[in-house]
Order: sequence, then C-alpha cells, then structure tokens
Amino acid sequence: MKYKLPKEDINLKPFMSKPPRYNWKDVIMRTDKTYKCEIINIIELTPMEKLFHLKILDPVERDIFSFRPGQFLMLEVPGFGEVPISISSSSNNKEYIALCIRKAGRVTDILHKAKKGAKVGIRGPFGTSFPMEEMIGHNILLIAGGLGLAPLRAPLYWISEHRDEYEDVSLLYGTKDPPSMLFTYEYAEWEKVNHIDLLTIVDQGDDGWTGRTGLITELFKEMTIDPDNTFAIVCGPPIMFKFVCNYLDSIRLPMNRMFVSLERRMHCGMGKCCRCMVGSTFTCVDGPVFDYWSVMNLKEAI
Ligand SMILES: Cc1cc2nc3c(=O)[nH]c(=O)nc-3n(C[C@H](O)[C@H](O)[C@H](O)COP(=O)(O)OP(=O)(O)OC[C@H]3O[C@@H](n4cnc5c(N)ncnc54)[C@H](O)[C@@H]3O)c2cc1C
Ligand code: FES
Repeated sequence: MKYKLPKEDINLKPFMSKPPRYNWKDVIMRTDKTYKCEIINIIELTPMEKLFHLKILDPVERDIFSFRPGQFLMLEVPGFGEVPISISSSSNNKEYIALCIRKAGRVTDILHKAKKGAKVGIRGPFGTSFPMEEMIGHNILLIAGGLGLAPLRAPLYWISEHRDEYEDVSLLYGTKDPPSMLFTYEYAEWEKVNHIDLLTIVDQGDDGWTGRTGLITELFKEMTIDPDNTFAIVCGPPIMFKFVCNYLDSIRLPMNRMFVSLERRMHCGMGKCCRCMVGSTFTCVDGPVFDYWSVMNLKEAI
C-alpha cells in the first residue's frame, strides 16, 4: 500500500522550480526513423566548413519529414559512424535539408571528402527547439559566435517567412577573423529583404577588414535592448554564452526569454545511452535548446 501524505501537510510551493514557459513536448516531432539521403549540393563556406544539401531519396518520406528550428539530426556516414548536426535550413523546405559541417575529426573529415551524389543516412529529428510561436509580437535578438550561426539559420528562415509577426529582429555575429565568417553571401538578403539588423565583429581583423574588431559583447554598446519585449537566442562556444548571457541578465532580460543551444558528445540522440548527460538532464532529449534559467540550474552545463 502506498503511503499517502495528508494534503494539508505539504506545502510544495517553496520547493517548486519555476515552470518553463515553453513546453516543447506539445509541438515537437522527434523520431528515431532513418532516412536514406543523397548529397545533392556542397558549398564550401570556409576551408573548415561546408554546407551540404541532402535530399531524402524516398519521395513519400521526404514529404513526411519535418522538424522545428533548433532540432538536430544524427548524420550517418556509412562505414564510419554517426555525428549529431543541427539542421541549418528552412523547416518549410521540402526539397532538401541543409547541414553546415565543420571538419572536426573522424566522421566529419570523411564527409568533407564526399562528392555530390554520395549516399548518407539521417536519423531524427531530435531534441527541443526554439519557441518561435512564443516570440511572436516581440523583438528578437539572435547572437551567434563562429559555427553557432549554423543552428541559427533555421530560426532565421522561420522569421523571414513570418516576418510581419515579429517586431525588430537583430543578428549579432562574431568570429575569430574575417575568413571564418559563414554565409557571407546571404547577409545582403537578410538585411535588405528580411529587414534583419546585422552587426558583425571579428576578434582579429586582416588587411582587407574595415568592419568592427573586438569581442561580440562590444556590439551591445551599439544597441538599445528593451528587456520587457525581447527574446534572445544565443549559439556559440560556451565562453561566449557566459559573457553574452551575463550581459543580458544585467540589463534584466528575463532568463526564460533567453535561449541557448548546448552541445555535448552524443551517441543515441534519444535518451538511451546517457552519453550526453549533464547531471540528470539528457542534452539530446531535454535540449539541445534550453532557456537560460534551466541552464543556470544545470551544474557544469556551460
Ligand atoms: C546537438 C548538436 C548539434 C551539432 N551541430 C553541429 C553543426 O551544425 N555543425 C557542426 O559542424 N558540428 C555540429 N556539432 C558538433 C559535431 O557533432 C561534432 O563536431 C562531431 O560529432 C565530431 O565528430 P567527428 O567524428 O568528426 O570527430 P571526432 O573524431 O569524434 O572528434 C574530434 C574532436 O571533436 C570533439 N567533439 C566531438 N563531438 C563533439 C561535440 N558534440 N561537442 C564538442 N566537441 C566534440 C572531440 O572531443 C574531439 O576533440 C553538433 C553537436 C551537437 C551535440
Ligand atoms: S545521446 Fe544517448 S542519451 Fe543523449
């Protein structure tokens, strides 16, 4: 027999954590299905990063496949293994899935040698996503460092496709040097067609660089952020999270309106292998998108 505490004895309120405003479980598609794909296009963005366009081979599966901005896939290079990669294309794009991949080790090195027509597998989509609907009617501040622009491309597409639903949208992007900047060929369209204010900065300029130099937080000096009406999405190296989120916290942007995407080593992508755990949290299932309030409560998350 279960022991039942008398109701009046429990006052749970002081112990209850602040509920997340955004319940991803309501809206998300997460599956463990494997789709066979063909690489239909490869764009060399920098010597280290390439953008791969993958087409799901089966037309019915291609139609069924859907994801939300912020989710990731497990990409399988047959015979070499699987790696988690954020989806970097529009969730509306039924033709292909874009993945921006840095050459980082065993699997990604092989992938960088692949040619158009090569066959790969994808599993997913997995994980939580950015609360695009909750951000409607607000200003949006997207902040990316280096490769962090790759996962931000999906919400950027979403915002562009629903531009009239959002107020001011700004993208702050910082890299270590000018050649490391990703997607430079899209900046004019983001600014002029999609009315996104783009501010870029590099740690170290080169001879041809006439833009800003310094850390990404320098860009805040050029901005007025309304903490009562702004959502922020931050993607980049952990050291950047700390400085950026501390600044946003200092101007009183509520922690549950700041979202970050965390990276951990992953294997299954679906809460089975425990490879990605931070404390009792699975980064693959409970994340990779977390609000900053949740991250602050995760020991050693960043
Ligand atoms: C949710 C998620 C989304 C990601 N999105 C992207 C993306 O859009 N584009 C992209 O290029 N990469 C992304 N990554 C990182 C990518 O998964 C790793 O670079 C990749 O797994 C490396 O595999 P490899 O076999 O090539 O290298 P390995 O030989 O396995 O490792 C090479 C080096 O990279 C380190 N490493 C491996 N995996 C990770 C990881 N997850 N985080 C940090 N360091 C790691 C290893 O410790 C080692 O030092 C993402 C990771 C996660 C968890
Ligand atoms: S990757 Fe296996 S539990 Fe998260």
